[in-house]
Amino acid sequence: MAESLLIPQTTDREAIYESLVPQIAALIDGETDGTANLANVAAALKEAFDFFWVGFYLKKENQLVLGPFQGPIACTRINFDKGVCGAAYTRRTTILVPDVEQFPGHIACSSASKSEVVIPIFDRNGNVAMVLDVDSDQLDDFSQADVDGLEAVGKLITATLG
Ligand code: SME
Repeated sequence: MAESLLIPQTTDREAIYESLVPQIAALIDGETDGTANLANVAAALKEAFDFFWVGFYLKKENQLVLGPFQGPIACTRINFDKGVCGAAYTRRTTILVPDVEQFPGHIACSSASKSEVVIPIFDRNGNVAMVLDVDSDQLDDFSQADVDGLEAVGKLITATLG
């Protein structure tokens, strides 16, 4: 695996994802430890975009439980019927929230969080194994470029799951 990331010096997120996704593929290629891979993916996304909070909630029994992340401390357990994470898990689809105040049931782990996008990540049987949660301290900070890029990252993680 590469020891450092090469991040294009641009604010064009699409261009950054284009460069980053293959580097994440290389980063996790051949590593079988799930925690190690999720930790490095969270760190790579933080380094590339300086997101306010980026990390994983893993499906464990009947809840989503905090996994590897970068950013301020966060709530550890989320019920499937709570928050944007719970909605992405239950609906099995990516949810982009331009203004968290407008999302019924949003969980305010931090009052600084203003917008977010949550991607479900599937196991090889098509069950949601975890969600990738990205939060911003800016309103309306995410676009289709983030959805496409983060879903591409999610597919790389799916490929590592046994
Ligand atoms: N924003 C999430 C909760 C998790 S934290 O923000 C890290 C939600 O409403 O699902």
